[in-house]
Amino acid sequence: MLRTVVQKTRDFLKRISRHSRSQAYWKKATTTFLAPPEYYDRQEAIMRESLFPRLPDGGAVLDIGCGNGRFTLLFAERARSVLGIDISPSLVAEATKIAAERNRANVEYKTIDLLKEEIHGVFDVVSCLGVTSCIANEDLFRKTVRRLQTLARPDGYVVTKESLSLANDDVHESNGYVATYRNIDRYLKEFEGVGLRLDHEIELANFSGKTNRFFVFRKSP
Ligand SMILES: C[S@@+](CC[C@H](N)C(=O)[O-])C[C@H]1O[C@@H](n2cnc3c(N)ncnc32)[C@H](O)[C@@H]1O
Repeated sequence: MLRTVVQKTRDFLKRISRHSRSQAYWKKATTTFLAPPEYYDRQEAIMRESLFPRLPDGGAVLDIGCGNGRFTLLFAERARSVLGIDISPSLVAEATKIAAERNRANVEYKTIDLLKEEIHGVFDVVSCLGVTSCIANEDLFRKTVRRLQTLARPDGYVVTKESLSLANDDVHESNGYVATYRNIDRYLKEFEGVGLRLDHEIELANFSGKTNRFFVFRKSP
């Protein structure tokens, strides 16, 4: 009995510190491009060809975990306004510089920690690409999903892209980088549970029992 409690406490502390390590990693990150370049080229092609035709044009977009803004700028080509937020000040500075060089006046970037700070407004499209796998804590994951729902306007869209496990939850960690691969059914149930209906999914990549997919969710009117 005592051993079980001790073991459970150890596991709990391990999970907490894993989450802190993951967030510390991203806070000081200077790049998000950890996969081969072809992966990001395919992401861009899918966004243009399959994702954008399913989303409204001319609206307000929030891009959470915008990195250096490579994909934020794709939204900006079609949106009225785009707010990109990221926990990393270096990535936000780079994104701001690139947008200025390209005269993208409808994009604004802010350094914001999604898990700790306010984001004001509601948006026609809330994009959160590759971010929940950086959240190695189940309570915070659930809170994040609820937050995505709150940030979308009624009848609005939430778009995610995530690496998920086709079997049990799995975690990969190396040098402070932590990838949390949640079971795909459990992941989707969490969105459904807050009133985000799955509209469409597109696979971007797959590897050893994992799938990397875009999901388009629609909020109830
Ligand atoms: C795997 S990268 C994805 C970047 C980009 N969205 C893409 O699709 O390539 C995850 C991004 O989420 C950001 N991020 C992680 N935790 C965050 C948090 N708590 N608040 C805001 N951004 C966060 C990271 O800094 C990083 O830029």
